[in-house]
Amino acid sequence: MEPKTIAIIGAGARGSGFGEICAAVPQLAKVVAVAEPRNDFRKTCSTMHQISPDRQFRGWQDFTAQPRMCDAVIIATMDQDHVGPAVACLEKGYDVLLEKPMATTLADCQAIEAAQRRSGRIMGVCHSLRYHKSFRMVKDLVAGGAIGRIVTVELIEQVAFWHQAHSFVRGNWGNQARSTFMLLAKSCHDVDYLCYLIPEPCRRVSSFGSLSYFRPENAPVGSTSRCTDPCPVEPICTYSAIKQYVNVANPQAWPASAVSLDAGREARLQALKTGPYGRCVWKCDNDVVDHQVVNFEYAGGITAVFTMTAFTKAGGRRLTVHGTQGELMFDESTIRIQSFTDGSSRIIEPGAETGGHGGGDYRLTCDWLRALKSQDDSAVVANAQESLRTHRVVFAAEQARLEGRVVTLD
Ligand SMILES: NC(=O)c1ccc[n+]([C@@H]2O[C@H](COP(=O)([O-])OP(=O)(O)OC[C@H]3O[C@@H](n4cnc5c(N)ncnc54)[C@H](O)[C@@H]3O)[C@@H](O)[C@H]2O)c1
Repeated sequence: MEPKTIAIIGAGARGSGFGEICAAVPQLAKVVAVAEPRNDFRKTCSTMHQISPDRQFRGWQDFTAQPRMCDAVIIATMDQDHVGPAVACLEKGYDVLLEKPMATTLADCQAIEAAQRRSGRIMGVCHSLRYHKSFRMVKDLVAGGAIGRIVTVELIEQVAFWHQAHSFVRGNWGNQARSTFMLLAKSCHDVDYLCYLIPEPCRRVSSFGSLSYFRPENAPVGSTSRCTDPCPVEPICTYSAIKQYVNVANPQAWPASAVSLDAGREARLQALKTGPYGRCVWKCDNDVVDHQVVNFEYAGGITAVFTMTAFTKAGGRRLTVHGTQGELMFDESTIRIQSFTDGSSRIIEPGAETGGHGGGDYRLTCDWLRALKSQDDSAVVANAQESLRTHRVVFAAEQARLEGRVVTLD
């Protein structure tokens, strides 16, 4: 069987990563078109996949204006640019792999889900945790009854101080008007995973949180607007952009790579002088929260608590699932199950997997590609309907935070 032909819509960090995954499975996929406004990123993608000039587009609008030219699209534009290409591509008859969040409003998520149903095309949404090797193992253990029936769950998302500064203060997701709110941008993964793990519908949510630290009033005395000004505080500043992007062991690695394609020291410094990543973390246009908690009540009285915090050294998640017969504790490397029945303690080390999100990016892309080949979407565990179901909970939780009340989901 021929590989499925794919167009990459948005060949930035994620889109180019999906392109690499496609290139690694030539029996399943071949990238034949790209839509990307940035010349250098479009060129890099075109060169890597030998895309002919007539299939290189400056935006999804130009791509979807053409007759259907391949089997499927991978949409990895920024959050606010999901609904446009997703609906247009589904209407054109493309199968779709869409980055999370589905869209930045509930109405737009519903529009995408409706377009998928109308078109009947196969669609997956990139809820990477569902495909992460260890998170998948936790789900299988809990669903298999390893701790009895779930009673309550605690999940903490440790964003890490430097990651918050990079993505949610200086970078793409710092300002809600430009991207979206934190719970949707970052923690829709966590809400989705909780709603996947707990086999009951979510009924009620409440939430608190704010932007407490990355605000002008917390700027050190004497600090300037850019780390490169030069700033007198920079040499001792935890959040120095020069430390984070220039004086690094591997300038090719993310997040340094996000600053400029040229990994040379001078190019990086120049990018910090003019671009967003050189700004003082207390003097940006950021407004998204740096910590938030959400309480969930599911049918049957199951409860869950989620905390997102910028203020951690390590990244990753920690999860505890309390069941009627035991407890499961998970920190992304080790799963520990303690049985109440016989007092035993079991430790499972799933082992690291290469690739983004514990191999999740590879697995979700391949599951979707296999579904396209077999025309059977049962392996796509986050399809349009499932993704809409868990996005609803995210929007309800944010409404609860903003309105200071408990929100009931119907
Ligand atoms: N699943 C995950 O775990 C995960 C992780 C990180 C990011 N994301 C999501 O992936 C998406 C992309 O994030 P990213 O880090 O790659 O951002 P990015 O800015 O690196 O890439 C987005 C690309 O879209 C391009 N673009 C802008 N307008 C366009 C248009 N009209 N047509 C086509 N392309 C256009 C931009 O030029 C850019 O190259 C976001 O929605 C983000 O939230 C998901």
